[in-house]
Amino acid sequence: MKAVTIPTPGDADSLVLADVPDPLAQPGEAIVEVAAAGVNRADLMQRMGFYPPPPGASPYPGLEVSGRIVELGADTQDAGFEVGDEVCALLSGGGYAEKVAVPVGQLLPVPRGVSLVDAAGLVEVAATVWSNVFMTAHLQPGQVLLVHGGSSGIGTMAIQLSREFGALVAVTAGSAVKLDACRELGAQILIDYKTQDFVQVLREETDGYGADVILDVVGAKYLQRNVDALAANGRVVVIGLQGGRTGELDLGVLLAKRGAVIATSLRARLAREKATIVKAVREHVWPLVEQGRVRPIVQERLPLNRAADAHRILEASDHIGKVLLTI
Ligand SMILES: NC(=O)c1ccc[n+]([C@@H]2O[C@H](COP(=O)([O-])OP(=O)(O)OC[C@H]3O[C@@H](n4cnc5c(N)ncnc54)[C@H](OP(=O)(O)O)[C@@H]3O)[C@@H](O)[C@H]2O)c1
Repeated sequence: MKAVTIPTPGDADSLVLADVPDPLAQPGEAIVEVAAAGVNRADLMQRMGFYPPPPGASPYPGLEVSGRIVELGADTQDAGFEVGDEVCALLSGGGYAEKVAVPVGQLLPVPRGVSLVDAAGLVEVAATVWSNVFMTAHLQPGQVLLVHGGSSGIGTMAIQLSREFGALVAVTAGSAVKLDACRELGAQILIDYKTQDFVQVLREETDGYGADVILDVVGAKYLQRNVDALAANGRVVVIGLQGGRTGELDLGVLLAKRGAVIATSLRARLAREKATIVKAVREHVWPLVEQGRVRPIVQERLPLNRAADAHRILEASDHIGKVLLTI
């Protein structure tokens, strides 16, 4: 089969489409013939050599796909899937390829009303947002969520889901166009992080209250300011380190607020933990997608042989929502 490989880590041109052996279905796994793969910022980190695949994962990039099941390995009879089913899948790697092996616990049916291709852009963002904002940070109806990078793939899902659960959503983004897109998705407090201080604006817009939950993709650079922006008993969940990994925090502020700073990674979780998250996504998120209340936001669909261009789009950060590779 063809897959996008990374012979030498580096810039976008280090992605090389090559002939590689087909994946084999291990017990508990399905082989999915890929229709489309989602592009994630983590893929760029892997390409540059900063985010190696976890042990046992495919060496090729790609954390999510949609496609058709073409084979089921041993011990998959109770999974509820058949050969020929259209699915999307959460992966530890290997999505930029014509075929990929997936533990059956990480498969989801393609939601009714979503095209097979666009379904590739749902599963990683839905699993990340559901596991962090709802399972870990326990956002409640009526609470305030601050999402950094509201127009990102992750951000566009966080806004829609939290709006559906009755939260007040605040976002940061780097331009008026992006903030406008966030407003259309349901964000009510819009902060241009390039020209405004998010702590100050959030305080003003919430009458001094702050955020119950902050979904953070910046890390060190925002650590103190995120805690400053928290309401009492608030939770910061760090899922990205785009602003560095080593920061300084006045623990007195965190203590006075009885706050928490949590950091998580979806990719590094065990298959059984991923299966628990995928099951929760199917139960809580998929019905909203099938009702048309939450949708994949797709900026661009490019063929697999243009993976380098897809990475350049994410690097330029002019996109809103997801970039997909089609097979
Ligand atoms: N831990 C996990 O399990 C997990 C899982 C999935 C994703 N992630 C992380 O989540 C983040 C988003 O992923 P993605 O694939 O959706 O990528 P993406 O679409 O490329 O989004 C990156 C976002 O970061 C925003 N950003 C950068 N610097 C910022 C700053 N100083 N303040 C506010 N926003 C800033 C960008 O906003 P502008 O374009 O407006 O500058 C952009 O919206 C990445 O950091 C990724 O690594 C983590």
